[in-house]
Amino acid sequence: MSEPLADLSARLSAAIDAADTEAALDAVRVEALGKKGAVSALLAGLGKMTPEERKEQGPAINGLKNEIMGRIDARREQLRAEALARRLASETVDVTLPLRPAPAASGRVHPVSQVIDEITAIFSDMGFSIAEGPDIETDYYNFTALNFPEGHPAREMHDTFFFQPGPDGSRKLLRTHTSPVQVRVMQQTNQKPAAGYMTPPQDPPIRVVIPGRTYRNDSDQTHTPMFHQVEGLVIDKSSHIGQLRWVLEEFLKAFFEVESVATRFRPSFFPFTEPSMEVDVQCDRSGNDVKIGQGSDWMEILGCGMVHPNVISNAGLDPDVYQGFAWGIGIDRLAMLKYGMPDLRAFFDADQRWLDHYGFRPLDLPTLFGGLSS
Ligand code: DAH
Repeated sequence: MSEPLADLSARLSAAIDAADTEAALDAVRVEALGKKGAVSALLAGLGKMTPEERKEQGPAINGLKNEIMGRIDARREQLRAEALARRLASETVDVTLPLRPAPAASGRVHPVSQVIDEITAIFSDMGFSIAEGPDIETDYYNFTALNFPEGHPAREMHDTFFFQPGPDGSRKLLRTHTSPVQVRVMQQTNQKPAAGYMTPPQDPPIRVVIPGRTYRNDSDQTHTPMFHQVEGLVIDKSSHIGQLRWVLEEFLKAFFEVESVATRFRPSFFPFTEPSMEVDVQCDRSGNDVKIGQGSDWMEILGCGMVHPNVISNAGLDPDVYQGFAWGIGIDRLAMLKYGMPDLRAFFDADQRWLDHYGFRPLDLPTLFGGLSS
């Protein structure tokens, strides 16, 4: 035997103590107890010994093997304990810190988004669909198709943001209202299917609401250059003003979550409706907040009317067959009234404290059966 057992034991024990990682320790284990390891070689040599030698060497070699295995296990435990202690020391947790709420609990939905969801819930329940149109419009859709004659002063009233003229001299603009989408919706319903397709043309009835961003060059406590409107459009063969009034009153009751509302329809003028009306809603202005659906004051809340025959024919429908009504409401104003927010400009300041105060919980979706705002 080349190396006395006691020396081998001392050498391996020193290597075990010197191993400072589990990987290094494993290398020592292979060196001693692996297939070609020093202790394994001694064990393999037992077979070639005489019974007497084996009787003497056997227990000694097996004893060495067990001793080394025991040392390795102990050292591994020690290394693990040290690693854990190091980790615990570096990853301290201050259990006295307050809980940080999960994103779904701390995020807030902007009141404008909430009000759009509420409006959508109410009108879908009445059988309306939602339509949308582009923010960047042509002069044609924003004005001409809506029966604003060229050079008509009503065009100036809108404080329009125009883009630079294109190569053909025509200027695009930021839509000043959601009304151009009326024309787009009517045109779509009237589109004849492409050759070869069997889909029948989608004729009226049309019942849509159109929420969206609108733009005018205007800024004060109740005006911002970008604001939101929701447009309503109903087109059928016999739609009439009585239905318009019913739809609007049902909407106002549902939206303001009150039992009844009185409305007052005043004659007005819009180029795209005839007759045109402005609607005032009953309210109480005696306290700090305006209360809708009670009291003896009136507040103007929306514009509406019977769609002008010129608009119907501009959109490609026959005004002798079809008629209908439309309305437009300012969404931001509805939000201010319902949730008591005094300054419209704060809507677009992106101030987290304002949103924490006036915003809505993301998972409380407004529904008619579950409650709109509760
Ligand atoms: N587009 C109008 C505006 O922004 C609002 C409006 C009035 C829309 C009457 C309508 C309507 O659909 O019939 O001032």
